Amino acid sequence: MGRIIAMAGKGGMGKTTIASLIIRRIREKKIGSVLAIDADPNSNLGEILGFKPGCDVGAILDDISANPEKVPTGMPKERFIEYQVQSAIQEEDGFDILSMGKPEGPGCYCYVNNVLRSVVSKLSKDYDYIIIDNEAGLEHLSRRTSCFADLLIVVSDASSIGLKSARRIKELSTQLKLKIKKSFLLVNRFNEDIEKRKIEETGLEYLGFLPEDPSIGELSLKGASIFTLDKNAPILTALNSLGEKIWKHN
Ligand SMILES: Nc1ncnc2c1ncn2[C@@H]1O[C@H](COP(=O)(O)OP(=O)(O)OP(=O)(O)O)[C@@H](O)[C@H]1O
Ligand SMILES: [Mg+2]
Repeated sequence: MGRIIAMAGKGGMGKTTIASLIIRRIREKKIGSVLAIDADPNSNLGEILGFKPGCDVGAILDDISANPEKVPTGMPKERFIEYQVQSAIQEEDGFDILSMGKPEGPGCYCYVNNVLRSVVSKLSKDYDYIIIDNEAGLEHLSRRTSCFADLLIVVSDASSIGLKSARRIKELSTQLKLKIKKSFLLVNRFNEDIEKRKIEETGLEYLGFLPEDPSIGELSLKGASIFTLDKNAPILTALNSLGEKIWKHN
């Protein structure tokens, strides 16, 4: 079974950036196959990984609901959706990626999440790592799209607002009894360990910190892919030293 790593945290804390860095490290270390899932409806994981998005799951569901005759007779609709979703997985250089998108049609967003859950549970047999980049906030938890992650990485800056949000995520995942084997706090854009008291208040186990790295800002200004980041960039070095806890299999 693959290791499912889901990102969480308040808006703009660095989930997508860190997801892409993790994907880059796993690829460079050649420690296993990777499926990246962009589960943020305002998706940009694809862009930072340097690929042009193709068809997403939302569009597939829209198409099927507008053209129900496309479902072959005798085939259950769910089976057809599954098949279509499989074919929407893009093979990039060293990793595969699936974008969830968001259907245009009303009232079917929860259906995308149902598909996401079943896709993740099926595909976890085919990949060594599944990295899910989630949208900001708590909704992906209450919609249970991260309901069976091996690792939930809660990203926050060092601000009290960010850390409070991290605590809410921890509380909610406990309340909802999500099947998350381990949740970590990862402090982003900070150059030292935050105070122990602040870590404890989140209720999360502390993974470490990643520094503010101007080269990340430059990349996002240029719209360049994470694979063009200098291999000696401080954020990559820092991630590498935290790495074992992220990519080791239990
Ligand atoms: N360590 C860092 N050093 C410098 N800039 C960073 C760092 N981490 C993230 N950023 C920048 O912060 C911005 C937000 O990062 P990112 O998009 O990864 O956050 P997010 O949590 O995915 O946001 P959203 O909630 O909108 O999906 C981006 O412009 C990114 O380049
Ligand atoms: Mg993001």
